Amino acid sequence: MKLTFYGHACFLVEVSGSKILFDPFITPNENASHINVNDIDCDYLFLSHAHGDHIADAVTIAQNCKPEIVANYELATWLQGKELSNVHPMNQGGSKAFDFGSVKVTPAIHSSSFDDGSYGGNPCGFLITSNEGNFYYSGDTALDMNMQLIPRGAKLNFSILCIGDTFTMGVDDAIIAADFVQCNKVVGMHFNTFPPIKINTEDAKVKFRNAGKELILLDIGETRDI
Ligand code: NI
Ligand code: MN
Repeated sequence: MKLTFYGHACFLVEVSGSKILFDPFITPNENASHINVNDIDCDYLFLSHAHGDHIADAVTIAQNCKPEIVANYELATWLQGKELSNVHPMNQGGSKAFDFGSVKVTPAIHSSSFDDGSYGGNPCGFLITSNEGNFYYSGDTALDMNMQLIPRGAKLNFSILCIGDTFTMGVDDAIIAADFVQCNKVVGMHFNTFPPIKINTEDAKVKFRNAGKELILLDIGETRDI
């Protein structure tokens, strides 16, 4: 699998011949000013919830790339209202097969409203399984006992967990989450984008190392095999 970080909670994962993009928030992200949204190519677009810091560039990218889109029912309905096709409404607990393998929509403890305050459905994460490997994208969430169910669904190669605290799990809870999902290779997200989620990344890496785990923090625009 190949992983590219586009800042905040936005990743592109290349798996089993498909490119899956998660939660694009690029044009409003000052730290990602060197990324051109129009250069991004994807076959799938997965959206974890309706907050602006997760869907800011979703419509632009969907219009450019015509991906299959997976989102909760309310967010999916909103996207269909933007004349987008190939939208798959899903919800927590549901699974669906696609070209790359399958996705299961996992619970997330968070909120989910659109910028105008209207209801954005339930927030979620995603468990992706494929012939090439498996991974978990937590979405914005608190540490949750439900994460202990993830290893029943798949043995993970890596997981993408929020670590920025204040609005989601912080580093200490993400280390416990890594135990719950039984995967010691963690890619951090949702940190340093805004002042309230600024963290000391070196301290975070040391904490993970001391817990026998690896915290991978990519530069924005960086790609690596994983
Ligand atoms: Ni959020
Ligand atoms: Mn967020």
